[in-house]
Amino acid sequence: MSLACSKISIDYGQRRALFDFDFALQPGRIHGLIGPNGSGKSTALQALAGLIKPASGSVELDGRQITTMSRREIARRLAFLPQQPSAPEEMTVEQLARQARFAHVGLLRGYGPHDEKLIAWALESTGVSDFAGRGLQELSGGERQRAWISAALAQEARILLLDEPTSYLDIGYQVEILDLIHRLSRDRGVSIVMAIHDINQAISVCDRISLLQGGRLVFDDEPRALAANNLVETVFRIRGRFVEITPGSPPHFDVELARWSDGARDH
Ligand SMILES: Nc1ncnc2c1ncn2[C@@H]1O[C@H](COP(=O)(O)OP(=O)(O)OP(=O)(O)O)[C@@H](O)[C@H]1O
Ligand SMILES: [Mg+2]
Repeated sequence: MSLACSKISIDYGQRRALFDFDFALQPGRIHGLIGPNGSGKSTALQALAGLIKPASGSVELDGRQITTMSRREIARRLAFLPQQPSAPEEMTVEQLARQARFAHVGLLRGYGPHDEKLIAWALESTGVSDFAGRGLQELSGGERQRAWISAALAQEARILLLDEPTSYLDIGYQVEILDLIHRLSRDRGVSIVMAIHDINQAISVCDRISLLQGGRLVFDDEPRALAANNLVETVFRIRGRFVEITPGSPPHFDVELARWSDGARDH
């Protein structure tokens, strides 16, 4: 299982959104992508999922150029949860998880006990079983987000690319989903790459962090190394500091809720 790219650039029309992006999946580990709005996190994830073709360089999945692989070949190896996924109206939570198994279930082979077990596990572990029969459109933002995570799990891929998987969740479910992600990597060896805004959650759950700024990687190292410099302050234009609440625990970024300067953020 490998997913890597070297110095890829992504353009939207005339504008370059990602410059010379390097990435190498660490099997069984959690890799966090952090950075301000518009810094290129979703673009990077979409490129890694084979959904955007780089203007230069290529993404390789299991040693093959991902843009030459079929959707089914990719889906057997990699599940991608976009930042704003869309599904046909009327689709229920269970149908969403069910159809996520399309890469495994073909015309010749219908849904078997293994598929049913996986779907039930995916619904259960994201806390959506109770409303599995309800339409996605009838759910709250957080419930819907969990339904999408459940579908990504049901796909049974060894690589999970998640774009802000906890953005709509209450703090209880944020912890639960992050814990689930942690267990998937530690117990099942699933490799996870996720965009995440909460720096402290990123530091505590990720094995490695990439920080993007204006489409460029400005940091790519283990989380603790982030505390050893002032990149978080300069990149996000905030004031704060890293503190160690319990000796030996991961560093915690304590932000001062005041502007760096009097001017508004001018991106
Ligand atoms: N489909 C698109 N067409 C044109 N420009 C785009 C498109 N998608 C993103 N961009 C631009 O590319 C840059 C990177 O966007 P991207 O969505 O990757 O950022 P992000 O880091 O995921 O931000 P956020 O934290 O807001 O999700 C931004 O300047 C954005 O305006
Ligand atoms: Mg994004």
